[in-house]
Amino acid sequence: MSEKPQSKPDLVVPRSVAIIMDGNGRWARSRGLERIRGHEHGTTAVRETVEQCAELGVEALTLYAFSEENWRRPALEIKLLMALLKRFLVGERDNILRNGIRLVHAGRRERLPADVLAELDRSIEMSRDNTGMTLCLAIAYGGRAELTDAMRAIARRVQAGEVQPDEIDEAMVSRNLYHPELPHPDLLIRTANERRISNFLLWQISYAEIHITDVCWPDFRKQHLWAAFEDFGGRTRRFGAVVP
Ligand code: IPE
Ligand code: IPE
Ligand code: MG
Repeated sequence: MSEKPQSKPDLVVPRSVAIIMDGNGRWARSRGLERIRGHEHGTTAVRETVEQCAELGVEALTLYAFSEENWRRPALEIKLLMALLKRFLVGERDNILRNGIRLVHAGRRERLPADVLAELDRSIEMSRDNTGMTLCLAIAYGGRAELTDAMRAIARRVQAGEVQPDEIDEAMVSRNLYHPELPHPDLLIRTANERRISNFLLWQISYAEIHITDVCWPDFRKQHLWAAFEDFGGRTRRFGAVVP
């Protein structure tokens, strides 16, 4: 399979896609630019990927934009990233509405700047009745944090006597995640050739197919998405069973 088909092949479109958008810093540094330039160029890739997924009929796209662990980065990079995020939310609003996309957020809100939260909430509110693709932005997101929050919520219900410990099952854990309504990813894409999960959607990706590309996120275009879908279409998903 070639990494980059020249024309749109017959694609098996996954119902739910998650992407670890990585390599912005390396993309910039290899060009002698500041890391933030890589993040800026990454927004073009986000726009094209979102539009292409919506057009192809993906039901849910989850993009890892900022992890809980990314708070460890230098204060200036965080500040510039948050400013970029805010600009992106405002600038893409028309696009999101025109494409019938519903925007949601996954992550912890506490440390996010108030102005970013305000724009995030505005986009969420404006797009809430859209019936097209759901775009889930994972911002200040950590898979362990999400599971910890779910455990706290369930523990509170146990404490209140509403739930018996034996009644806790996988479905109840799933229902207490940030977005229980979203289908779990069928396909997980990671750019920049990193072969790790980096605390993304730990519960939800238990049976996701994984596609890793060496393309850095700012260079990711629809051809690379098609290549990922082509790769996905060639997989045999067994879910632990024996497939004849
Ligand atoms: C991904 O690119 C974007 C974020 C994590 C916010 P990086 O900034 O991690 O880029 P590299 O991995 O250092 O190249
Ligand atoms: C994962 O990328 C987080 C996002 C893409 C937002 P990182 O660049 O933070 O991951 P590590 O540190 O290389 O594992
Ligand atoms: Mg990285």
